[in-house]
Amino acid sequence: MQTARGSEGLHQPGGIGTGRLHETYARSFALNPEHESGYFACVADLLDTPEIKCLASFEQHLDIDRLQHVTSVSYLTFALALKFGLDVRTAARAALLHDLYYYDWRENDWSHRPHGYLHPRFALKNANALCGPLDKKTENAIKRHMWPLTVLPPKYPESLAVSLADKHCAAKELRYSLSKKYRARLDRKIEAYRSC
Ligand SMILES: [Fe+2]
Ligand SMILES: [Fe+2]
Repeated sequence: MQTARGSEGLHQPGGIGTGRLHETYARSFALNPEHESGYFACVADLLDTPEIKCLASFEQHLDIDRLQHVTSVSYLTFALALKFGLDVRTAARAALLHDLYYYDWRENDWSHRPHGYLHPRFALKNANALCGPLDKKTENAIKRHMWPLTVLPPKYPESLAVSLADKHCAAKELRYSLSKKYRARLDRKIEAYRSC
């Protein structure tokens, strides 16, 4: 179980302990190694690689790029893992790797269609290339994060946390991109976390 200061912060009002996942999502836009040391201890080396950094050049959900998406999913997964006593490091890292593919999924290119089914395989291959052989939980989390599109469900609680966090973040990202009112509200929250 993580005990670093950044991890403890997640149990404060507005954190995952209250069930307010959207607060944790907003915080993922304002991560600060000083305040979130528990999270960064798990993923700092990965966040520093060109393979992860370059995800910023791909659109994921309209106005949100892929780096922001995987970071949000990773932070939310970390918070869920912490809350439920799971393997936080494995969960946070698997989430960061779950969409590690390098193409625009909207392009009319049949080499990556159907995208929903195929991209977990591409991400797994790229994650193996980046990290070497992966443990079973990480492999499963990447392969099955699109469940229920992939018929078999996630096998481990950590994989399920990645899959649920992915859906939560995707929904927020679409709403952020499509609703001016929601965007203004979330932006205010993000600003508040940034100025903490
Ligand atoms: Fe995905
Ligand atoms: Fe995703």
